[in-house]
Amino acid sequence: MQTLRTTSLQVRDNQLWILDQQALPQQKNWLPAHSVAALVDHIHALRVRGAPLIGLSASLLLALLAESGMPQHELAEALETLRAARPTAVNLMNNLDRMKQALAQAQFVTALSCEALRLVEEDKKLCDSIATAGSALVTPGSQILTHCNTGGLATAGVGTALGVIAHAYRQGKVKNVWVDETRPLLQGGRLTAWELGELGVPYQLITDSMAASLMARKQVDAIWAGADRIAANGDVANKIGTYSLAVLAHYHDIPFYVAAPHTTLDAHCPNGDAIPIEQRAASEVTGVAGSFGSVQWAPTDAQVYNPAFDVTPTALISAWVLDTGVVTPERVKAGVFQPR
Ligand code: MRU
Repeated sequence: MQTLRTTSLQVRDNQLWILDQQALPQQKNWLPAHSVAALVDHIHALRVRGAPLIGLSASLLLALLAESGMPQHELAEALETLRAARPTAVNLMNNLDRMKQALAQAQFVTALSCEALRLVEEDKKLCDSIATAGSALVTPGSQILTHCNTGGLATAGVGTALGVIAHAYRQGKVKNVWVDETRPLLQGGRLTAWELGELGVPYQLITDSMAASLMARKQVDAIWAGADRIAANGDVANKIGTYSLAVLAHYHDIPFYVAAPHTTLDAHCPNGDAIPIEQRAASEVTGVAGSFGSVQWAPTDAQVYNPAFDVTPTALISAWVLDTGVVTPERVKAGVFQPR
């Protein structure tokens, strides 16, 4: 396969490499992801993360394994193992559905590699379209609050919600970005803060519990979040903490926008109740670990509840900004989850 490089994925010497998103921003380590077991481990550990990026990394690995001579039946098993690596983000399943079609072809090696590269190129374009459509909704002088990380690290392109924010900033419309640190794994504090700094976008980092008082003080004009899965009725699964922001936004009469590519839509999923929510290790809540070291503050036998995602109901969402256009609540109420 040709050499390829995005912010956090590389194909070189016919092998897949990932930028370790657990070590950022203190360390920039490129790690090998040469086997299914290695990539699944990176996905579990969130060294590869962000719904679009997970799907792309799995597709690229499958194509590279095919090129290295893995037989068709083993590739089919590898595909199913990768599909199960992250239950909530549907981009992985959607991307692998396309790879499965390529795998069924007689010339499956070429078909898989063309499809994987196509998915990467498409993702870049999807991000650009989202950024253009979303920035039209940003009002001049905005203070925007965002959650988790939805930037170039999480996609092959400029990102989703963060792509909108960066584009609107370049248009002179963003005064400040409030970055939720995003407990328990600090994707906001580590990744979004770093990306915004690199992009030169002014931001202030806050702990998740500070958002309410900022809204009460009229310091937030809009909230922009990404999505791991959008159900057919518009309910959105995203990083834990997103739902509380949407409730707060509703109370304070602040628009709450979701930005995502169409690969995040799950037409087979009727509503948020049907979205599987990944439960994660207690150690993520009883302490914290990263390239900065690790610490445990809770009692070793503390009982923990640690869902990785929550569901924001459709009624709390002001608009869904997709690469295909903006879906309005009126359209969703009319039963059509399609851009106007
Ligand atoms: O657990 P993470 O860090 O992968 O969670 C990421 C999010 O919740 C993002 O909002 C979502 O995947 C969209 S990324 C463009």
